[in-house]
Amino acid sequence: MTHSEIREKFLKFFESKGHKIVPSSSLLPTDPSVLFTTAGMQQFKPYYTGEADAMKDFGSLNTVSIQKSMRTSDIDEVGDESHLTFFEMLGNFSFGGYWKEAAIAWAHDFITRELGLKIDYVTVFEGLPSANVPADEESELLWKEVDPKIIVKRASIQDNFWGPTGSEGPCGPTTEIYVDGVEIWNIVFNEFFYPGSREELLNGKSDKNLENLKTAGIDTGMGLERLAMVVQRKKNIFETDLFEPIINSLPNHFDLRTKRVIADHSRAMVFLASEGVTPSNKEQGYVMRRLMRRIMALNISNDIIDQVINTYASRYPELLVRRNEILTVYSEELNKFNKTLRNGLNELKRLEAVDAHSAFKLYESFGLPYELIKDISKDKAKSLTREAFDEEFKKHQEKSRAGAEKKFGGHGLILDTGELKAGNEEELKKATRLHTATHLLHAALRKVLGAEVHQAGSDITPERLRFDFNFTRKLTPEEIKKIEDLANEAVKKDYKVTKEEMAYEDALRSGALAFFRLKYPPKVNVYSVGDFSKELCGGPHVSSTSEVGKIKIVKEEAVSAGVRRIRAIVE
Ligand code: ALA
Repeated sequence: MTHSEIREKFLKFFESKGHKIVPSSSLLPTDPSVLFTTAGMQQFKPYYTGEADAMKDFGSLNTVSIQKSMRTSDIDEVGDESHLTFFEMLGNFSFGGYWKEAAIAWAHDFITRELGLKIDYVTVFEGLPSANVPADEESELLWKEVDPKIIVKRASIQDNFWGPTGSEGPCGPTTEIYVDGVEIWNIVFNEFFYPGSREELLNGKSDKNLENLKTAGIDTGMGLERLAMVVQRKKNIFETDLFEPIINSLPNHFDLRTKRVIADHSRAMVFLASEGVTPSNKEQGYVMRRLMRRIMALNISNDIIDQVINTYASRYPELLVRRNEILTVYSEELNKFNKTLRNGLNELKRLEAVDAHSAFKLYESFGLPYELIKDISKDKAKSLTREAFDEEFKKHQEKSRAGAEKKFGGHGLILDTGELKAGNEEELKKATRLHTATHLLHAALRKVLGAEVHQAGSDITPERLRFDFNFTRKLTPEEIKKIEDLANEAVKKDYKVTKEEMAYEDALRSGALAFFRLKYPPKVNVYSVGDFSKELCGGPHVSSTSEVGKIKIVKEEAVSAGVRRIRAIVE
């Protein structure tokens, strides 16, 4: 069975059981507390918490998807038989539709009848008395009902309790299916909401408690690569048809481990580039740069990009559509890398030993990422660890942040926050007015078009603001006028703009908007405009709204499917 046939079988099977097929969401989530989409359930979080209505959005309480996912926690393990950064996850979901009995019966049916596989054993949650969560005897009984001979093992919170992802969210006990010695399917019974991170939940020191979820439901995840491995009877994931063509296209002088790293990283790079991620020194862009440079240091030609695209084009036609953009991202980064690589390698040769400090210097001056330094310098960098390198990186970021703040308070400043750009005092004043106008327009957009509308991007120069938001159709002239009017009323009311520093989680709980795709630091600034708008933001803003002036929307257009853009000026 090819990977395409496995996908089709999965989607059709759950469609026949009343699930609506939902496309993969972006690899870049709207949830700002996570860098990438790491699981199929991420796009469905609001349906469990009751913030969104599945019946209204999907016409069903049950959905099924194949989600593009990315996890960087195992990046150092890539190259062995099973670890990956990019992968796809098959999942069926229910938001108050069905519960354990159907979830277990269908999973059993799919694995044994549809795929003809034999289940080694399954695991269920052993319970957590300290949090009043009992052992999952119900699932154990349900498994025995579908197969009296099945082996059921119990497992702890480390293995058989999912979530929450990010800073808070749905979570619950799981039951897992093992085939050929590997875990292939994780079935989650989302019945709780935890108002903190998974780390806080596991270390048990927090005073936060599990709460009952508004809409208890099912969330399952089955990695396509592993499933293909057992279905296609291969020894490891790299021998499946998801990887083989890519691996086979690589020159023979590379060892197997290196080939696997290249295959993994090139897949991740192509998918990230297709979503508009470009290499940089922060957030998703930093991950992208590391993936790309590791491939580039091995002199891999850009043919690898076509290999990846060919493997996935039938499922993800956007890869073909964006082929030229992906190639351009690659060649531009390659140019940058080539310029400094030779010098960096020479410098590395001169060093007798490489510690975290010298490794970070090599990254800073020559763009050699940690992985590359480790790869190339072998024994010389024996004592170098990822943790120590990241620590150096953090120190550096703190220093440069402090530097930027100093500049901001002085004269002849240049402000470039990524969102806001200004070259002198006068420009900064104008950009600051436009920045507050952006917050007013964002709030007005949500009041007119609905609270699910949120920021997808923002860019401010002294001349104009540009604001992207998710919305599926063109705005009517009446809507545009209404949005403009609302924002201008807020200007007239001369609301005070106030800033408050809060813990990130408190900020979210206070209702502040935080939709931009960044990973926020633990302490954040929340800017409020009266009771009209409240957003996490780095500033700067005017002190009261009359300083903004009259706001005028000058253009409304599409950026991509589901994303609109407005441009506005202040008079
Ligand atoms: N959300 C669960 C996982 O990713 C199914 O494993």
